[in-house]
Amino acid sequence: MSVLITGGSGLVGSWVAKLLVEEGEDVIIYDMFERRDNFLDHVADKITFIEGNILGLAHLNETVRNLPELTGIVHTVALLGGDVRDNPHFATQVNVGGTHNVLEVARQVGGLKVVYVSSGAVYGKQEGPLTEDTPMIPSDPYGATKAMSEHLCHQYHDTYGVDVLCARLFFLYGPPNIPGPNSGFNTNLFGALAGKDVNLLKGRDQKGDWTYIEDAARGVVLMLKAQNVTNRSFNIATGTFNPIDEIVEMVRKHAPGGNKIEVGPGVNLERGAPLDITLAREQLGYEPKYDLEAGVKAFKEWLDQNG
Ligand SMILES: NC(=O)c1ccc[n+]([C@@H]2O[C@H](COP(=O)([O-])OP(=O)(O)OC[C@H]3O[C@@H](n4cnc5c(N)ncnc54)[C@H](O)[C@@H]3O)[C@@H](O)[C@H]2O)c1
Repeated sequence: MSVLITGGSGLVGSWVAKLLVEEGEDVIIYDMFERRDNFLDHVADKITFIEGNILGLAHLNETVRNLPELTGIVHTVALLGGDVRDNPHFATQVNVGGTHNVLEVARQVGGLKVVYVSSGAVYGKQEGPLTEDTPMIPSDPYGATKAMSEHLCHQYHDTYGVDVLCARLFFLYGPPNIPGPNSGFNTNLFGALAGKDVNLLKGRDQKGDWTYIEDAARGVVLMLKAQNVTNRSFNIATGTFNPIDEIVEMVRKHAPGGNKIEVGPGVNLERGAPLDITLAREQLGYEPKYDLEAGVKAFKEWLDQNG
């Protein structure tokens, strides 16, 4: 298997790259930036990096045509959170236009399996457990870009036969994201594990399905290799909802450095939770390995060595 990962220098993409290489697959990362940390060092000689902008259809097309062995594309590029809220026009171009470019290249080239990395944000703030049959009713512009992209994926499958699946991930935490004031809410929350005080102005009432990054990436890899599934979209999360108080308590338990963790009232993002992962269990054999405690411990161990 030879797989091109768009956004492969990012959180999800680098983990998918790592897992695929560890399974003996060839990986090509397509990103505007190459990783500058050491996260992929142990697999670096098995990864080809190609600098590219997902908005450049011609370059993406040429890149894929120059990779005759290519069997699949994992498309992770997207702008998230504040980047979407503050620049909705550009973010829609990247998130929706980027997905459209990947689908168009897959349509023109043919024979490629595509996994689009989507989000539980497509469900908006509906109450969980959210199944893949729950309608997509996003509650913010980011969620709208993910839902629009999924609609395009479904149409490129139904109309043009492109073999594409959508992986709905939820709030991700874990290496190589280092918690700090400039990291997103879901990483910052774990800052005490890295010996940092945490002061989040809002979020105590946040709902989500916090997933350790390795589980999410494994779900994406399973989707890439899946045969004969009956659904186009799959929830890839933990299937549980841990309130913020529980997360804070768990972080305190494993970070006895006495750092402050303060989270103000309200929500960071309007979301429901949890995602129902029955379909992924049944059709992909997906099973999360990390509950909250295991994920916190794994993150802490990595931060102790790398943070
Ligand atoms: N992080 C989460 O909690 C979370 C949760 C659910 C879904 N997702 C989805 O997972 C996917 C990956 O998210 P992530 O957390 O890994 O993000 P990330 O920001 O860590 O990675 C995104 C990567 O895309 C690259 N990129 C950005 N614009 C580009 C462009 N125009 N052309 C080429 N490359 C470009 C960046 O350089 C970066 O390496 C996204 O589609 C996101 O919607 C993330």
